[in-house]
Amino acid sequence: MQKFIVTGGTPLQGDVRIAGAKNAVLKMMAAAALTDDACRLTNVPQISDVRIMARTMSDIGFDLERTDGAAGEGVLEMRAGAANWLFVPLEAAMKMRSSFILLGPLLTRFGRVIISNPGGDRIGRRPVDLHVEAMQTLGAEIEYKNGYYFAEAPSGLRGAHIEFPYVTVMGTENAMLAATLAKGTTVISNAAQEPEVDDLIAMLCAMGARIERTAPHRLEIEGVDRLHGVEHRVIGDRLEAGTFAIAAAVTGGDITIRGVEPAHMGSFTDTIAGMGVDIETTDDGLRVRAADTYRAADVETQPYPGFATDLQAPLAVLMTQADGVSSIHETIYEDRLDYTMELVKMGAVIEALDERRARIAGPTPLHGREVEIADLRAGATMILAALSASDTSVISGVEHVDRGYEAIESKLVALGARITRIDA
Ligand code: EPU
Repeated sequence: MQKFIVTGGTPLQGDVRIAGAKNAVLKMMAAAALTDDACRLTNVPQISDVRIMARTMSDIGFDLERTDGAAGEGVLEMRAGAANWLFVPLEAAMKMRSSFILLGPLLTRFGRVIISNPGGDRIGRRPVDLHVEAMQTLGAEIEYKNGYYFAEAPSGLRGAHIEFPYVTVMGTENAMLAATLAKGTTVISNAAQEPEVDDLIAMLCAMGARIERTAPHRLEIEGVDRLHGVEHRVIGDRLEAGTFAIAAAVTGGDITIRGVEPAHMGSFTDTIAGMGVDIETTDDGLRVRAADTYRAADVETQPYPGFATDLQAPLAVLMTQADGVSSIHETIYEDRLDYTMELVKMGAVIEALDERRARIAGPTPLHGREVEIADLRAGATMILAALSASDTSVISGVEHVDRGYEAIESKLVALGARITRIDA
């Protein structure tokens, strides 16, 4: 177990380089299952989710090699050639829900896979029913026994019309990955529009797949017989960039954020600009400067291009510093407001209206406290709160942050923050 010790009160200043997007790279790794050729990814973030995915794929028989590219950027070379153990165990699913993205590529390429239900038998929360139904629509036979899906398509998958009842990012990606090698045309309606989905489409098309976004929410995939190797650069992580933008705003700082596409961050930057944060678009990112006072805001999370659920908790820290009453409505997840209790410990004034809605009154100074984090984005949120507090906080549950933020403390230290990691 490790902890962060953070002493706030320093305005963060300088440049920060954003890593490749976690929510793109994990699916691109799975896409390597679609060909025997080598697939090479650049701008691969050094985060533990990538290491878990790499370990899972290597257990199946993939060859993976990680090296450092230009300017220390992570490079990952993968080859599915030796994949022969078409079994994704419970251990992988327990460590990382996104291991379920291997379902579509393994099934379409090898005709069968046994894959653990993420969360074991706990089907209630963050289920994968839409992924499974999409595979069945493509002709797979899937049986669920003892926490595992036994999926088969001995004579291959067939193109079909998949209509999602609501937007699912990984569900869209799993269906699309499977459809690339299916016979005939697949249409996905109510498809996710996240930039990470489009980056995956770009990689797949460069491998020889035929995928077109014929309308914002509609994908058409013409199955092909085989795909070939590729070299692809992962887009910058808009969620990491958003986290640093809030760090600038709540510490009275001035940060230039490099390596991210500002167009991917429209809802977020419009929201914080509306609250008074000074945002300037640059060639390869954003410059974010704090203001003396902020205005309250009302935010509802939505699938892209709406306000990202993954930036909802970090935004709450800015709301504690805004003048008036802000409101949050989390529409994607049922349980993503738990972090508010930790913010209250630090002095925030937050009223939880129900599991999905909260009101935040500000501005309130935050105070250093001992806080616990339970997930990745809550972790980033506590770091932001601790940076804006004037004294010292102790944050436990650091491993959650390492899942998705590359070298967060050294990036923050380079901007002037006082943050250290200790073994506890
Ligand atoms: N859902 C179902 N059934 C399904 C699939 C999803 O009910 O079969 C529900 C989920 O429980 C959730 C909603 O649909 O309430 C949307 O979930 P979605 O499938 O879109 O989420 P995901 O693809 O599993 C990705 C990101 C998440 C991000 C969400 C929403 C990855 C690896 N993860 O998850 O990222 O919050 O999309 O944008 O891409 C994070 O980075 O911290 C993170 C959790």
